[in-house]
Amino acid sequence: MKAIILHGGQGTRLRPLTHTGPKQLIKIGGKPVSQWGLEALSKVGIKEFGIVLGNNHPEKVVEYYGDGSKFGVSITYIYQGEALGLADAVKKTEDFVGGDNFIVYLGDNVILEGLEELLKFQGSASILLAQVENPQRFGVAQIKDGRIIRLVEKPKEPISDLALVGVYAFTPDIFDAINKIKPSWRGELEITDAIQKLIDEGKSVSYHVIRGWWKDTGTPEDLLDANLKLLDNFLVEDNNGSVENSKIRGRVYISPQAKVVNSDIRGPVYIGKGSVVENSMIGPYTSIGDECKIRDSEVTNSLLLDRSEVSGVQLIDSIIGQSSKISKKVSSFHGSRFIVGENTVLQL
Ligand code: G1P
Repeated sequence: MKAIILHGGQGTRLRPLTHTGPKQLIKIGGKPVSQWGLEALSKVGIKEFGIVLGNNHPEKVVEYYGDGSKFGVSITYIYQGEALGLADAVKKTEDFVGGDNFIVYLGDNVILEGLEELLKFQGSASILLAQVENPQRFGVAQIKDGRIIRLVEKPKEPISDLALVGVYAFTPDIFDAINKIKPSWRGELEITDAIQKLIDEGKSVSYHVIRGWWKDTGTPEDLLDANLKLLDNFLVEDNNGSVENSKIRGRVYISPQAKVVNSDIRGPVYIGKGSVVENSMIGPYTSIGDECKIRDSEVTNSLLLDRSEVSGVQLIDSIIGQSSKISKKVSSFHGSRFIVGENTVLQL
């Protein structure tokens, strides 16, 4: 079976972080959000991937993933061009899919369970559902007597609290269904409407309700939440760098060439390649990217992206974009919260 990872979208709710790259490439625990999905799919046996690229810096996706060999898979890129909806993106993969059954995975979703269940599917399609508190933000399914009777994208009036999780299993029947749907009120061809079309035509669509954690990482809060869950569930304790005169507690991963000096690290914490942490308190729930510099600072529940630098500040619930620098001359600590895009300099 092949898998398609959808890597488009403008990521408007994550600006300014998404002004300089797609949201799915934001790294948590050393890996882009979409890589967590790719690896989960690879682990259940899928090795042939198609990545659908949008307009927001698609070259960065190709540069990162290459032909997939670094990740033990093969990757074919498919350009969507203008963002006309998820169903439009799926439609563009028809030649690549070539008559096989396939999985569609939304690259901004992080799913910790349910993929094996999806692979066992029979019928025309299968979806994963999860109970949510804010169904109006998702596609929603109404179930009766163990069958899906209706799917509605972003319902104004809630019809149920079961949201469509961003992973789907399809047969090529979905392509005919997509050809028959019209754009929704938001001007997009909705995959939810295409699945509804299958149901209307009497095709069998199965579902599985996941009970565990799942996240659509559309906002900074979602990303920090995903950081917490991924570090909690998958962080491996290891020290490949150097630690001097520091206290390391809990699960902490220190990458090669990283240096921790005179600091207190409280896991779960991930420290990327070549990063330097000096005179600082880090954690819990903090991912530090590659080549970062952290001096005289406190960083809690935050994401510091590659090459960012902080000095003399106390950060809580923050996301600092790649190559951004935040520094404070006099180190009087006040908790601050920042969501800062790429290449920003803040002197406080
Ligand atoms: C999309 C789908 C929606 C699904 C959600 C899951 O929403 O349209 O049905 O519930 O992903 O993340 P979007 O991210 O386009 O708002």
